[in-house]
Amino acid sequence: MKLHREGAVEFKAETSGSGSGPGKAGGVFYNPAMASARDLHVALWRRLAPTGTTLDGLAASGVRGLRLMTEAGAAIEFCDRSPAAAEAIRANLARNSLDAKVHEGDLCKILEGREFDALDIDPFGTPAPFIPAAVRAVADGGLLGVAATDTAVLCGAQPKACERRYGARPLSGVAAKEVGMRILLGAIAREAAGEGRAVTPLLCYTEGHHLRAWVRLTLGKPPTLRWLSHEMQLHDTNASGLAGPLWAGALGDPAALPNEQELPDTAQRQGLVRLLTTLREELPGPPGLWDMNEMARAAGRGETPRRERIVVALQKRGWFASSSIFHPLGIRTDAPLGEQVATVQSL
Ligand SMILES: C[S@@+](CC[C@H](N)C(=O)[O-])C[C@H]1O[C@@H](n2cnc3c(N)ncnc32)[C@H](O)[C@@H]1O
Repeated sequence: MKLHREGAVEFKAETSGSGSGPGKAGGVFYNPAMASARDLHVALWRRLAPTGTTLDGLAASGVRGLRLMTEAGAAIEFCDRSPAAAEAIRANLARNSLDAKVHEGDLCKILEGREFDALDIDPFGTPAPFIPAAVRAVADGGLLGVAATDTAVLCGAQPKACERRYGARPLSGVAAKEVGMRILLGAIAREAAGEGRAVTPLLCYTEGHHLRAWVRLTLGKPPTLRWLSHEMQLHDTNASGLAGPLWAGALGDPAALPNEQELPDTAQRQGLVRLLTTLREELPGPPGLWDMNEMARAAGRGETPRRERIVVALQKRGWFASSSIFHPLGIRTDAPLGEQVATVQSL
């Protein structure tokens, strides 16, 4: 194992090959490419200051929980089924002069009959097998973080696997990742509804090969899941060609989004500032994204104008319009297609 430094902690782990691969299932996994995801987690915990205990449920080296303890003052317990990981977490805690409970075993078993104020699920691939136990184990008003790296499944490349795994049909095109996020939220919300709980998304985003959702779970009514067409129209019932069932509500709470001061001072900070700025702008918009190249083609334009120009022009005509973190060619707008075309023609 190699010694690493990330944020304010030092720890030993094995590095995953390319920085984005699945790593060794039995080893002590560490992916440096996910440092910005952990920076954001630290910032969110600084912002929300969750009370009680957070379980770093699939902890590997423990870097995430170690950082939340050191940089956000959180009370953390750790869990990993790999004996090598559990041993590494204990050693990494000691290396940083920290003390915490480490559960060695299967997360779903460890969660049985237990309740945590916050829980983080950061699996290899799909989080689907962990979601039922996770929603049961989060206290009322508590927080659940769920990461998914089965992006191909959630985001349109493997529709059959998506139906099997998440009970929903994905979408292809620029809205694919946003729809993948909405399918993941729908799956969490459906599972929570079975426990009489409602879900409020706080911060949901995609970056590189992963999707991540943080939600608050409260006692409440089940949500109405809906379906989305390729024309970005929401439907209340299923029909051929529609994506869903999916979460059709807001993808976050502006009050939960960390500000610049809450972000750790790391190399990824400016990238995260940009991500949060765009997310803040697009949160009030409607579900679904339009492809700016398709808008330009429909407008008979050989070259697509810059995204910012189209967005500002749509706003000047009175429509909601924003860029999106979910696709570099995506525009979020409530302008109908004819208005989009007229707007691009006017540029
Ligand atoms: C992607 S790694 C976690 C990365 C870590 N959260 C981080 O930020 O570096 C997934 C971890 O989950 C563990 N794991 C997989 N299935 C598990 C299960 N059923 N119960 C507990 N741990 C599990 C693996 O041993 C591995 O260490």
